[in-house]
Amino acid sequence: MADPNSVLNDLPGFPQLQGPRIRLRGPRAEDAAAVFEVFSDPAVMRYWSSTPMRELAQAEGRIAEILEGFTQRRLINWVVVDRGDAVIGTCTLYNFVARHRRAELGYALRSDCWGKGLAREATTLAIDWAFRALELHRIEADIDPRNEASRKVLERLGFASEGVMRQRFFIGDDATDSEIFGLLAGDWAAQHG
Ligand SMILES: CC(C)(COP(=O)(O)OP(=O)(O)OC[C@H]1O[C@@H](n2cnc3c(N)ncnc32)[C@H](O)[C@@H]1OP(=O)(O)O)[C@@H](O)C(=O)NCCC(=O)NCCS
Repeated sequence: MADPNSVLNDLPGFPQLQGPRIRLRGPRAEDAAAVFEVFSDPAVMRYWSSTPMRELAQAEGRIAEILEGFTQRRLINWVVVDRGDAVIGTCTLYNFVARHRRAELGYALRSDCWGKGLAREATTLAIDWAFRALELHRIEADIDPRNEASRKVLERLGFASEGVMRQRFFIGDDATDSEIFGLLAGDWAAQHG
């Protein structure tokens, strides 16, 4: 079985994953305005573990961190692009633990793109790659339990809810709960062959 760290280290660049309507690719400096548009929207950030971006420099900084995180192979934070190569969101694998063959999944889309199955398409590409290329055993996600859209995405992908950690994140002054979801390679293979 492949060592996930070796596979990550051997990657020549961000894996590019092509779906029917969207593509996952690495971010570029010129994506900053589009990244800012996604993460400055209070609707997108409602259940996120940080507050909305207020200036373009934060998106520029975020892209620099993503590229550095990839250089160190500790983060694969794709941007989700439409057919015209415009950024409409992000999809992320992070907190890799090679020894236990697991990682965490995160995702966000620009709010005018919600409700079209695009989050499902993006996350399916990332998960399929993580199980097939990295040969992970388990993928985790955590959500604010009130985040119905995110819960639905995870349930449709086959994730199981595994419990709630109380008051785990501060959003401003509010301590919010975190519901943990898990998806096993066997669950995925049973659905996707
Ligand atoms: C969560 C998010 C990515 C979902 O994106 P999306 O593209 O609208 O999701 P999809 O269209 O792929 O929908 C997947 C399922 O969720 C359902 N869904 C989407 N939004 C929903 C909502 N607000 N309430 C209930 N169900 C919802 C869809 O109907 C679909 O179900 P179906 O397969 O039975 O038809 C998007 O709402 C988002 O970016 N939210 C802000 C960021 C965020 O909270 N990210 C997750 C942090 S853990």
